Formats: sequence, C-alpha cells, structure tokens
Amino acid sequence: MLNNDKLWYRDAVFYELHVKGYYDSTNDGTGDFRGLSMKLDYLKDLGIDAIWLLPFYKSPLRDDGYDISDYYSIQPEYGTLDDFKNFIERAHSLGIRVIADLVLNHVSDQHEWFQESKSSRNSKKRNWFIWTDDPTRFSEARIIFVDSERSNWAYEPVTQQYYFHRFYSHQADLNYDNPEVREEIKNVVRFWLNIGLDGFRADAVPFLFKREGTNCENLPETHNFFKELRKMIDEEFPGTILLAEANEWPTETKKYFGNGDEFHMAFNFPLMPRIFVSLAKRDSFPIIDIIEQTKDIPENCDWCIFLRNHDELTLEMVTDEERDIMYKEYVKIPKMKLNIGIRRRLAPLLDNDRSTIELVNALIFSLPGTPIIYYGDEIGMGDNIYLGDRNGVRTPMQWSYDRNAGFSYADAEQLYSPVITNPNFSYESVNVEGESRISSSLLNWMKKIISVRKDYRELLGRGEVQFLNQRNKRVLVYIRKYHDQRMLCIFNLSRRHTYVELDLSEYKGLKPVEAFTKSYFPRIGDLPYFFTLHPRSFFWLNLTVPSFDDSMDFDGDE
Ligand code: NOJ
Repeated sequence: MLNNDKLWYRDAVFYELHVKGYYDSTNDGTGDFRGLSMKLDYLKDLGIDAIWLLPFYKSPLRDDGYDISDYYSIQPEYGTLDDFKNFIERAHSLGIRVIADLVLNHVSDQHEWFQESKSSRNSKKRNWFIWTDDPTRFSEARIIFVDSERSNWAYEPVTQQYYFHRFYSHQADLNYDNPEVREEIKNVVRFWLNIGLDGFRADAVPFLFKREGTNCENLPETHNFFKELRKMIDEEFPGTILLAEANEWPTETKKYFGNGDEFHMAFNFPLMPRIFVSLAKRDSFPIIDIIEQTKDIPENCDWCIFLRNHDELTLEMVTDEERDIMYKEYVKIPKMKLNIGIRRRLAPLLDNDRSTIELVNALIFSLPGTPIIYYGDEIGMGDNIYLGDRNGVRTPMQWSYDRNAGFSYADAEQLYSPVITNPNFSYESVNVEGESRISSSLLNWMKKIISVRKDYRELLGRGEVQFLNQRNKRVLVYIRKYHDQRMLCIFNLSRRHTYVELDLSEYKGLKPVEAFTKSYFPRIGDLPYFFTLHPRSFFWLNLTVPSFDDSMDFDGDE
C-alpha cells in the first residue's frame, strides 16, 4: 500500500527505467509491462519507492519514444493498456509509486496532429505548430542536438514553409500560444493520472514558449503554463507530482519551484556535473558552491539528485573550464563524446573503481534532495559507445548469466539492442543473480545504503545542510540537521590517504555512531576531532547523545 504522506517524494528513493530494456516476457526481444511487473519484487527488495518510466507511448522510436505519435496509446511491443494498468496496480500494492515522462514540447512528425497541420496552410491544426516563411526567426534559440542538427527550423515542401523544432527535425514543437494545444496537453495529463500514475517527469520544460529577441528558454509564459497545470493536478489529482527536466543555470532551474506552486521537484542538473568536477579536481569547492546556490527552496519542493541517466552526461550548463576538466578526466577516446556531453554509464565513467562508485552514491544519498538510480547502475553495468546516439547506455538489464543476460529468450539477433559483452563489464559477471549471491557485491552495497538512508529517512530527506570549514579542501564535510538529529558526512574526494581536523565544539558531548555498521567513535570533546581517510572513502556519522558508559565502546564489535 502507498503511504499517504503528501510530501512522499521528499523521503523517497527513485529509480529510472525503460520498459523496453527491463524484462521481456514475450520473448520478442523487447521488454514489456508484463515483464516489468514480474520484476517489481526485485525493485521492492532493493528498497525503491518510486519508478520513473521513460516514454512508452506510441512512437516511431526515432528518439527512443520522445517522439510521440499518439499520446493515448502504448507502443504495441510494450504491451496493452491493461498490462499497463495491472503493472500500476501491482506497483501500488507493493508501496511503489510510478511517474512517467510527459513529452509536451514536441510530437513526432508522424503524429496525426502534425500530419494534418502540414497538409495545408488552412488546416484546422495549422496553428498547433509554429510555421514561418522566415527561418531566421528566433535566431537566439540555441540548437541542442549540435551533432545532428544545423537549425531549429525544417523545411516542409507541401506547404512550402518551415516549422520549428528544438530537438530532432522529426520532433515538431507544439505551439503553446494556442489554447487548444494547452487544453489538449491537460487532457493527456488527466488521462494517465486517471489510470493511476502518480505524476510526471516533464520533458524539456524550459522551451515551451518562444518569443522573438529572447533565447526562448524559461520565459514567464512557460512558468505560467506550468503553474496552471500544477493547479489543475492539485485540484483534480491531489498527491501526484510534477518533476522538471530543466537543464539550466542554478538561478533559472530553481525558478521552476515557483513559490511552491509550480513543480514539486526538479532534477539538480547544476549539481550533477560538479560532483564529477570535484572528483577530477580533488576539490570540495564545486559541490559546496553549487549546493549553496541551489538551497533554500520552498518546503513542499525537493531536488531530484542523479549521477547518470538515459542521456549523455550533459555539460551545457558548466563553465568552459569545467567542461575542459570533464573532457580531460572522463573522455578516454573521442567516441565517448556526444553533443555537449559524455555518453557513458556510471561504472565505466568512473573506471569501474568501486570506492569512487560508492563515494558518489553516498553523496547523492546524503546531500539535500531525493536520490534517483538509473537502472543497471546498481549492479555496475557497462556501456557500449559504438551503438550510436545514446543507445550505448540503454542496453538490456542484466539479470543473470543466462542467454541474453536473462533479459529475454529471443534470439540474440532479435533483441532491441545487444547486451554488454565487453569482458570488463560482461553480463556473465555483472548481473543481478550473481551479485545477489556475493555479499560484498555492489548490488548488496546499494541495498545497504538505501536501507541506511531509510533509517534516517527524515534527517536525510528533509534536514538542512551546513558545510564545515576546515583546511583540507580535498575533503568535503557537511552536517545534515533535522530537529534534534544530526548526521556528520565526510568524503575524501582524492585518490590519496588523507586526514581532516574538525572543530566540532558545537557538538561537544555527543558521540558519533557510524551509520552503516553502527560502530561507536569517541565522544566529542574540547580538542579538534581528527579523522584519517582512505582514498575515495567516506563516513556518515550519526551524532548521538551517549546513553551509556564510554568504556563499553568496543562491546559488540566484531
Ligand atoms: C530530453 C530527454 O531526456 C532526451 O532523451 C530527449 O531526446 C529530449 N529531451 C527530446 O525530447
């Protein structure tokens, strides 16, 4: 059963997946909703509270479903509407919520709205899209897919005009100045929330409205539309949420929370690359700086913090210097670059270094916000940069060392994508079944961190953050505080052994208890508190009021 806390998303652990890549119950080579339902127990056991489903609507799949041709039906390979309903019901019965992508900026050029619109200049749907004779309009709007598009306008020969598209040219932007479009998108939202979805991850939110003389991003009209949508869902579907994909500079991204009356959540795009920059520079400043800039958001809102997702690791909103650092540290061969970003999964990006993988996870599980895991990253899945576009990070989930990684019993040639066979990451060793059997596996470690996070649900979900001043910049130190609870978090960002000396006098008398193993540390006294740290290691220390004699410290330890 679902918990009925209105702010459920603040304490949750999210998981992003594509139905196509999760489990194939029909053996046709593509995952489906029945297959996904069969794997819900796995997600429950992992400790997941909410799933974000990548687009599953009818689509020619030229942008993996972000090119919708019918908002009201499901891509046939993924199953039927009934399969979808059963999946939602089963997820809810396990206490797992489900949100889905809402691709509202554009539709596929195969969508009947666009087909009708392009058929004649007098079409009833002409004004559902943005047409012009002059492709120099909106010239300040940047091009997003720089590797494949040269302009945001595409010529359409039948009516001899250009239409606007922010992404691929086969994804025509809807005209949000048209009230019919706005109304129809609200109906789409109603349709799926009525079926039982718990909210949406809204795609490409900054781009809805366009105005000459601006960069056509984050316009007041766009914010107003989302406020309207929020009002509607609050009234008609209380408890459901909107999560913003707004990859912008911190001040602009923050604005999507409005005054607590726009989005419930937004991805912390500013933080994500700075985590990797901090590692590359062995310097805590990039993280501290960005958290300072993104804190103080309305009480009923939260950041969604991620390390990787289904796209390239985007570097659009970082400084040139930061981008150079990222390319230098993480792009081993040019093929790893895509657009303005890096197409790699978490484990290969971090050289498969277990300590670093744990460290970055410990960061997103303890910094303010709600963590989200990208499917497969919990087992350390690899990627295949040779599959083109972003397909290399979208390969089948690796369940076992059986044929096709236990994802499907189709012929290997029939799979929507090959499985990962590179020996360093092969499904034969990187898979759920194998990792379940080894207690020290990454999967078991991920389970542990999720359960520890749940031990301190409110403290880590809702507490404030305060960075501690100390001299060793290679080490990041902060305290999370919630009422009378406190968690001291310490991270060695460098690849060297090191130490920190902390002034914890404010907490004198308290006793640090390590959160994973519950080991006791000496009571905080008058002297500076001293920690030695292994390369890329971390501590989460719950600062407790000691309730017994300190001489008992080692009792019960292994
Ligand atoms: C952002 C999505 O994450 C990406 O996968 C997609 O290609 C674009 N929006 C266009 O919808």
